[in-house]
This record gives sequence, C-alpha cells and structure tokens, in this order.
Amino acid sequence: MIRVHHILLLCFLLDNFHFIICNNNNNTERDILLSFKLQLTDPNNALSSWRQDSNHCTWYGVNCSKLGERVQSLTLSGLSLSGEIPSTFGNLFSLKNLSLARNKFVGEIPTELGNLHNLSRLQLSENNFTGRFPTSIFFYLSSLVFLSLTKNNLSGELPQNFGHAFPNLTTLALATNRFEGVIPNSISNSSHLQIIDLANNRFHGPIPLFNNLKNLTHLTLGNNFLTSTTLLNLKFFDSLRNSTQLQILMVNDNNLTGDLPNSVAYLSGNLQQFCVSNNQLNGSIPKGMDKFQNLISFSFEQNYFTGELPLELGSLKKLEQLLIYQNRLSGEIPDIFGNFTNLYMLSLGNNQFSGRIHASIGKCKRLSLLDLEMNKLVGVIPKEIFQLSGLTTLYLHGNSLNGSLPPEFKMEQLQTMIVSDNKLSGNIPKIEVNVLKILKMARNKFSGSIPNSLGDLASLVTLDLSSNNLTGPIPESLEKLEYMVRLNLSFNKLEGEVPMKGVFMNLSQVDLQGNNRLCGFTNQVVHKLGVTLCVAGKKEKRNILLPIILGVIGAIVLFVSMLYLLWLLISLKKHEEEKRSLSSTPLKGLPQNISYGDIRLATDNFSATNLVGKGGFGSVYKGVFNTSNYESQTTILAVKVLDLQQRKATQSFSVECEALKNVRHRNLVKVITSCSSTDYKGDDFKALVMQFMPNGNLEMNLYPEDIESGSLLTLLQRLNIAIDVASAMDYLHHDCDPPIVHCDLKPANVLLDEDMVAHVADFGLARFLSQNPSEKHSITLELKGSIGYIAPEYGLGYKASTSGDVYSFGILLLEMFIAKKPTDEMFKEGLNMNNFEKKLLNIVDQRLINHYEYSTQNFGSDSHSGESGNISYSDGSNTYKAEECIASAMRIGLSCVAHHPKDRLTMREALSKLHVIKQFILGL
Ligand SMILES: *[C@@H]1O[C@H](CO)[C@@H](O)[C@H](O)[C@H]1NC(C)=O
Ligand SMILES: *[C@@H]1O[C@H](CO)[C@@H](O)[C@H](O)[C@H]1NC(C)=O
Ligand SMILES: *[C@@H]1O[C@H](CO)[C@@H](O)[C@H](O)[C@H]1NC(C)=O
Ligand SMILES: *[C@@H]1O[C@H](CO)[C@@H](O)[C@H](O)[C@H]1NC(C)=O
Ligand SMILES: *[C@@H]1O[C@H](CO)[C@@H](O)[C@H](O)[C@H]1NC(C)=O
Ligand SMILES: *[C@@H]1O[C@H](CO)[C@@H](O)[C@H](O)[C@H]1NC(C)=O
Ligand SMILES: *[C@@H]1O[C@H](CO)[C@@H](O)[C@H](O)[C@H]1NC(C)=O
Repeated sequence: MIRVHHILLLCFLLDNFHFIICNNNNNTERDILLSFKLQLTDPNNALSSWRQDSNHCTWYGVNCSKLGERVQSLTLSGLSLSGEIPSTFGNLFSLKNLSLARNKFVGEIPTELGNLHNLSRLQLSENNFTGRFPTSIFFYLSSLVFLSLTKNNLSGELPQNFGHAFPNLTTLALATNRFEGVIPNSISNSSHLQIIDLANNRFHGPIPLFNNLKNLTHLTLGNNFLTSTTLLNLKFFDSLRNSTQLQILMVNDNNLTGDLPNSVAYLSGNLQQFCVSNNQLNGSIPKGMDKFQNLISFSFEQNYFTGELPLELGSLKKLEQLLIYQNRLSGEIPDIFGNFTNLYMLSLGNNQFSGRIHASIGKCKRLSLLDLEMNKLVGVIPKEIFQLSGLTTLYLHGNSLNGSLPPEFKMEQLQTMIVSDNKLSGNIPKIEVNVLKILKMARNKFSGSIPNSLGDLASLVTLDLSSNNLTGPIPESLEKLEYMVRLNLSFNKLEGEVPMKGVFMNLSQVDLQGNNRLCGFTNQVVHKLGVTLCVAGKKEKRNILLPIILGVIGAIVLFVSMLYLLWLLISLKKHEEEKRSLSSTPLKGLPQNISYGDIRLATDNFSATNLVGKGGFGSVYKGVFNTSNYESQTTILAVKVLDLQQRKATQSFSVECEALKNVRHRNLVKVITSCSSTDYKGDDFKALVMQFMPNGNLEMNLYPEDIESGSLLTLLQRLNIAIDVASAMDYLHHDCDPPIVHCDLKPANVLLDEDMVAHVADFGLARFLSQNPSEKHSITLELKGSIGYIAPEYGLGYKASTSGDVYSFGILLLEMFIAKKPTDEMFKEGLNMNNFEKKLLNIVDQRLINHYEYSTQNFGSDSHSGESGNISYSDGSNTYKAEECIASAMRIGLSCVAHHPKDRLTMREALSKLHVIKQFILGL
C-alpha cells in the first residue's frame, strides 16, 4: 500500500513525466480505481465486479480502447454512490469520458482533472459537489465537447476567454449552482454550442449576446440577476437571428427592463418555449408572434406589458401554455381560443382586461387551469366553461361578472374554484365533483339556501360563502366534511341551529358571524361564534302528546318574550358596534370594502417606486385611490400590506385593527379602512389603508440621506414633535379604557404629515392592559419591540407596561436631540444626570448647534399649526436659551429611561414638562 502511494505521489509530482514513469505500469490505473472504490459508499453494491483478480477493463462502468489498454471511459451514473473524486483521477490519462451524474458525491472537484487533456465529456450533474470549479479545467480542457455540472453547489466565474478555451463545446450546462460574475460574450466563439443552460445561478451584468450559434437549440438563462435595456434587448434578439434551430429560449426571473423589440419575430420559427416572465419588461407584446407556429409555451407573465393581447396569438395551434398574468394589459380579450385544442394552462389574471368572457374558451378541451381573476370582466360566465372536463383550477374572482352559475355541473378534475368578489347571483349550484378542495364564492349576491349536496364534496378543505344573501339553515350534511379546515358562512341571512359535529366541533375553523338568526346549543358555540343560544334546547323525541302541547304553548310564550329580549340586546349591541366602527369609516367616495384589486391598482401593482417603507410585519406603499368614478378625483393614502409569510403577521394585523378601531387622537395615525381579501393566487391578503404622511417618518428626518437638502429639523420642530408623541402616548396610557401599551415606539414609527405634525403609527405589537390582575396571559410580552428602544425589564420577562413605553419614549427624546441611534457607543457608555451636562455640547446634534450659532435668523421657523412663527436666535441670550431648552428636554429624556420602572416619569408628567419648555422658549 505504501509503495503504491509513493508511486502515485511521484506520478503527481512529476506531472510532465508521468507518461514515461506510469505508462509502463499497467497496474496503476487499476490501483487508482481500486482505491477510489475503497473510499466510496456503494449501497447497491454496484461495483461488485471491481475485483483485484480481474482485468479492470471488464469492470462495470469502465471502458478501455482495447482489453488491457488504458481506460477511456468511466460511467457510473445513477448508482447512489457517495464519496469524493480523488485527485489521482488526474492519472487516468487517456480518459475521454467521465460521468458520475446522479450520485451523492461531495467535496471539491480536484484541480488535477485539468490534466485530462483528452477529456471530451465531463458529466458531474446532480451531486453535491461544492467549492469553486477549478479554473485549470477552463484553461486546459480545450477538448471538451460536453460539460454538465447541473444541480450541485459549485461556485466560480466563467473566464473572459471562455469561447476560445472550448472550441468544440456543444453542451454547457451549469444550471442550479452558485456560479457568479458576468457571462462573457465570448461564449459565442464556442460556435458548435447547441445547449446553453446557465439558469438558477448568480450571474449578473448585462444579458450576453450569442452571435452566430448556428446549431443552438436551448438557451436558458432564467433566475439570475441579468439586466438589460431596450437597446440591449434589440441586440440580444438580433444576436440570435442565425440560431435557426432554437427551440427553447428562457430568460425569466432576471432584472430585464425596457421594451421587447419587434425583431423578436426574427427568432427561429422552431421556437417551442418562449419565456420572459418575471422581469420588468414593458411596452406592448411584440408583433409577429404568429410566426412561431411550433410554440408550445408562451410565458410573458409578471412583467409590465401594456396594450392589448395580440389577435395573432390565435393562430398558434400547438400552444399548451399561455401565461400572461400580472401585467398591465387592457382592452377586450380577443376571441383567440378556437385553435387552442392543446391548451392546458390559460392565465390572463391580474391585468386590466375588460369586456366579456368568450364562450369559445369551451373549445380548449384540454384546459386544466383557467385564470381570468382580477380584471374588469363583465357579463355572464359562459356555461361552456363548466363543461371543461379536465379543468382543475378556475380563478374568476375580482371581476364584475354577473348572472348565475349553471344549476348543476360535474367537472371530474376540478380541485379549486374561486369566483369571489363578483356580482354573481342566483342559487348555489349542485356541484358533483369528488376532488374539489377549495370553493370560494364570497362577496357576491348568491341567494337561496345552501344545498345539502355540498356535504357530498368529500374532499372539501375550504368553503367560503361569506357575504352573500343566503338564507335557510346550515345543512347538517356539512358535518360529514372530514377534511374541512376553513368554513366561512359569515354575513348571510342564515337561520336555525348550528350543527354540532365535524368541522363545527373545532370552532376556530368556523366563521358564522353576521347571521343574526343562527343559534347554538352550547355556551361555547354561542361565545365563540357570536350566535345566540338556541331557546328550545336540543329536540328530543317524546311519545307523550300532552306535555308536548303544553310545553309548546309555554315555550311559545317564553320564546316570544325571550326573542323580544334578545332583539333588544342584539339591536343594542349592533348599535354599539356601529358606533365603534365609526372610527374607521372609509373616506368619502372610497368604496366601502376596498379590494385587493383596488389596492393593486392604487399602488401600481405594488411597484417599488411606491414602496415607502418596510417594517416588522410588512411593507407600506403609497397608493393613489380614485375617489370618484365620474371625475378624476384621487386621494393619496398609505397602504400597509402584511407579509403573511410571517406567522405572526395575521395576529399583528388583528391587534392593529383592534387597537386602532378604538382610538382617536390627533397624534395617532388614522386608519381609513382595512382590507382582508385574497390575492390573484387565492392566498390571503391583508392590508390597512391609512392616512398618507408626505414627510415620512422621524427617523428619515433625523438622519436624512441628503444632508444638503436643507430639511434639517429645527429645535422648535423637534420640541413640537416630542410633544405630539407624548400627547399620543399620554392618551393611550391615561385616556383609553383599557389602557393601551404601544410596545414598539421608535422614530421609524413616528410619521410626519404635511404640517410636520407627528402621528404615532404601527400598533402591530400593541397590548391592552387588563384591569383584572388575574388575567395574566393576555399581557405577557413575548419580547419583541426594537433593539435599543426596549425597556431593560422586558428582557427579564416582565409584562408589557406603560412604563416600558415611557422608556422607549425617553430614548426617542434623547435621540431627537443627540441624533445618534441608541445602538451608538454613547448610549452604551451610559448617560446619567451627573455627567451629561458637562458633555452637553459634545453630545448634542452638532447640526443643531451649528445651525443656531451661525444662522442669524429663523432658527425656529415653525410651520406647526397654531403656534406663532419666527424666533430669531442671533444674540447671545437666545443661544443660551436654546442650550437651556435642549438640556431640559434631555433631562426629561433621562428621567424617562431610569433603570427601575417605578423611577420613571409617567407620560402625563413628561408631557407637562415638555409644555413648560415650549413656553419658555417661546418666551411666554
Ligand atoms: C499492458 O499489458 C498488456 C497485456 O496485458 C500488454 O500487451 C501491453 O503491452 C502492456 N502495456 C505496457 C505499456 O506495458
Ligand atoms: C450538500 O452538502 C452540504 C455541506 O457540504 C450539506 O449541508 C447539504 O445538506 C448537502 N446537500 C445534500 C442534498 O446532500
Ligand atoms: C476539435 O474537434 C476537431 C474535430 O473533431 C479536432 O480535430 C480538434 O483537435 C478538436 N480541438 C480540440 C482543441 O480538441
Ligand atoms: C451543426 O450541425 C450540423 C449537423 O449536425 C453539423 O454538420 C454542423 O457542422 C454543425 N455546425 C456547427 C457550427 O456546429
Ligand atoms: C448571420 O449570418 C449572416 C450570414 O452568414 C451574417 O452575415 C450575419 O452577420 C450573421 N448575424 C449574426 C447576428 O450572427
Ligand atoms: C434591477 O434593475 C434596476 C434598474 O436597472 C436596479 O435599480 C435594481 O437594483 C436591479 N435589481 C437587481 C436585484 O439587480
Ligand atoms: C386559427 O388559425 C388560422 C390560421 O391557421 C387563423 O386564420 C384563424 O384566425 C385562427 N383562429 C382563431 C380563432 O384565431
């Protein structure tokens, strides 16, 4: 063994002489292979033929030019082998083909493979190789014809001279790795390339050009960070003009911008897949698409394409996928469906299409997905759609469709049907579909009763019939639906008893609110579902007539009087609810229920330019809402979209709604309305629509990116903001019943309106303080809040308390005058009463000092409503006054951040002290 090692080492060291030394030894290659086998795990014993006593040219996967000659090919694909490639493979000198695909190899690819000067096929795909792909391979393996490293964890960059390095390459497959850098244009010097697959990597920079690759059939660059412009798009498509064999072109999921040129139509007529989805392309869909008679997949979704859907698409007879959802296309959908006998997926959702749905969609007999959601479609749903026997998914929600559904239908494959948010009427049809999982028909005008037959939809998981005009009882048959996890029948006119079994036993999955004539038998049902208690009690069969008659008479009397009582109670409660919901009345002209579609339109499809902030549980967008259908009146509002991927976000949404429903104060942000709906995918979507604050938040104003912009907050503005925030907090702590603890007060949550009046926002972590000390669970704080602003005792598991908020306020107040974040060293050192006054001039926001030292006027220019304006600080006494004012404000801040909660001021005390400072500075 030792001897073999020595020889191997020698071979390796004398790389250039290995021919002389090793070639004489026929055993060496066999030894390399045997030691390779030794370190492998071979669960299926695939290499059992690899034995010492046999000629290695006869072993499984090994091929020699002749028996006993050198190894030319090693093919061990798909054998579940694990282990590493030994560096000694760089001796298998004659190797032309090395294929280890679809195993579990790990480790790095040894640099020594660069010695295999005859290698033409290197196939290492679908393993778990890691590390940088050795550059030696790029430099020395010019003989390579086939290189596939797909699905590993390899990194590295492609060299600039790539095309010269591999003159004979036909296949370059590097997809699903971590390759990075710019894709060199020189790739097109590898003029024999047929397949280029670089998808799912981290390539960035401009999309490369591929001139003159005559035999190119596959070009996939999807899921990288490639960029483009209109001009570059033009060059890119032009560079593919001579690639007349091109079948697959995928540049999806990159960062391509600009228009697609009409020269797209010069691409090969052999094109089968054309995918540019999920970029930022705009302009209209290029002309001349009818050229692509072989097209199977047309995938332009998730861009910003505008204009109309081209009529000429209708001639593409082989089309199986037509995906254009989430763009800005408008106009009527042309009647293009007659030739689509192979069409499998049709997705035009989330555009601005108007007009009717063509009955000719019924000719797409193979259709599986039909998605027309979130458009402006009107008219009835053609009955032909309900005869598409292969349909699995039907999305028609968020349009203005009317009329009724066919009285009954069978669609054997249908799994999801969403027709919510339309104007559909008539009865709920009799649906006979065994595999239906999701049925949503909410917010329409369906009437009549809920058919018993719904209980036969055995696979049903979600049933949402909320906000319709349904009457009659809840069919007991729904108890049978054993997979049901979400049942929403709220806001109808249902009556009678709530069933007791099945899904009705897990009350958190059931929503029946807003049906005033439903009743439940147990207190739990009554309490959880908000229905009344059934008056008659559970019916029991009895044989004796008399007691029944007597009972009935008695019951009627009782019933009537109780009904009256109940009616009184309900109308009282309703009255109360109406009063409560007043504080979130929608703005005049705004629809009562803002839908996902409205918000999407107002925020320009949640475009990045409208993104004004990202916070704990979601993103805040600026939205321009139409407040009148007739005149072009708009209102700018802020929309906070909850990120429901985060588990806590839904909870935070309801906390925030609940908190804001009950409060009104000039210095709290005003919620106009909320939106709880579904997006184009049918996923839950939750948003709050609020006052828009044109001056951003306090944090942005304290640390402006553009210092020169002159938007420095003056001393008086800072003081006013502090008073605004203190007023809001004082109101929450002392005027609300129960008191509300904000739990996340910080500059980013203080918003400034056009008059620089501050409004406290973001109640996602708020807590209601229970008056009842035994109710501990409702107020235990899971430590959240924001680092730097959380009171120290929260770290020790203390409950949320008003003094915790006071601490956050104190930090905020100090920060306003120091303009350093609480994570700054200065805060860590610990500020205290004794040392801070000496240091005052060192620690205070220097811009504030400079401002009042060097500016002769206008120090306190004040746009704040109500107060009178300009105060000049040109003379020494005023400079002193300003210093004194800053010092006093900071003293208040320090009294708020006392270590022990009981040593801190209350918000009310802090507020009144701040008022005193303001009077002092205004010279009152
Ligand atoms: C290797 O062995 C074969 C016979 O097994 C022989 O014909 C051949 O000449 C040997 N090659 C060398 C270089 O020794
Ligand atoms: C690949 O290897 C990495 C570490 O090298 C490991 O974390 C990962 O789980 C492996 N993946 C697979 C699919 O085996
Ligand atoms: C490329 O292929 C040709 C023809 O097969 C061959 O003559 C040439 O040597 C190859 N080039 C390299 C660098 O291997
Ligand atoms: C393209 O493919 C044809 C047929 O396989 C072949 O004859 C021709 O040499 C190839 N051209 C290039 C540039 O690879
Ligand atoms: C296409 O081929 C023609 C003729 O060989 C050549 O003149 C032209 O430059 C090529 N265009 C591209 C973009 O490769
Ligand atoms: C995408 O492109 C835009 C505009 O060219 C640029 O601002 C943005 O940073 C890019 N995003 C990525 C992820 O490259
Ligand atoms: C079907 O294709 C033919 C051309 O092959 C075209 O004339 C016709 O308009 C197409 N039908 C539709 C509905 O687009």
